[in-house]
Amino acid sequence: MPQIANQVSVLSIDELLSQLSKQFPGKVTFSTSFSFEDQAIAHKILINQLPISIFTLDTGRLFPETYSVWNATNERYNTHIKAYYPDHSLLEKFIAEKGPNSFYESVENRKGCCYIRKVDPLKRALKGNAVWITGLRAGHSASRHDMPQVEWDEGNQIIKYHPLLYWSTEDVKQYINQNNIPYNPLHDKGFVSIGCAPCTRAIKPGEDFRAGRWWWEDSASKECGLHVHVVD
Ligand code: ADX
Ligand code: SF4
Repeated sequence: MPQIANQVSVLSIDELLSQLSKQFPGKVTFSTSFSFEDQAIAHKILINQLPISIFTLDTGRLFPETYSVWNATNERYNTHIKAYYPDHSLLEKFIAEKGPNSFYESVENRKGCCYIRKVDPLKRALKGNAVWITGLRAGHSASRHDMPQVEWDEGNQIIKYHPLLYWSTEDVKQYINQNNIPYNPLHDKGFVSIGCAPCTRAIKPGEDFRAGRWWWEDSASKECGLHVHVVD
């Protein structure tokens, strides 16, 4: 782990991704929600044919546009991005008890839904891997602002690496445009951070990056549990 932390400062992102895939053969995985950031990282992995697996967590409640960019990505890079799905018995029980849209009623219900549709499938997706690559950026929120680029995820017992942590929104957009990378058309309609359809809306100019996520909740509770960052 410290060995990787040292490499971060001297190697380019492409070099470090390549280095990690050699250092942990078959044990480096990248999670994509098909956001701008994730599309930039997927491009680096797929164009360079790095032996890094790519997966998405299909919650079943994603926007139609997200499925379209997923499909466009498969076609552009001649690949099949693997999807992990919620455990059907957990989901059936939850929906039978709470109904399909209970996330609007309480933070507890919302976190329960996120647990079943994202956090639990994530555990299966990460199993057997040593390194988890994400598209987190410091500019996303205050809680992500001071994150280290490489960190130990105690809950999932895995090294996390955030290659684009210090990129600005403009850096990401420029990279996407320069490389003609397929992206979610919702980004052109005021959506910046995109998650599930019932829990994401467009933001107005000047609003926070994550203001459109779970907008009915206090900002303190606005994480779904995928990324638990322990501040020292
Ligand atoms: S979340 O915790 O609020 O949902 P966010 O949407 O900011 O996360 O995305 C941050 C990173 O988490 C993404 O770059 C991606 O690595 C991962 N991620 C988020 N949602 C998913 C998903 N549905 N499938 C796979 N990875 C995801
Ligand atoms: Fe459920 Fe909304 Fe969380 Fe998606 S973001 S898993 S729909 S509560």
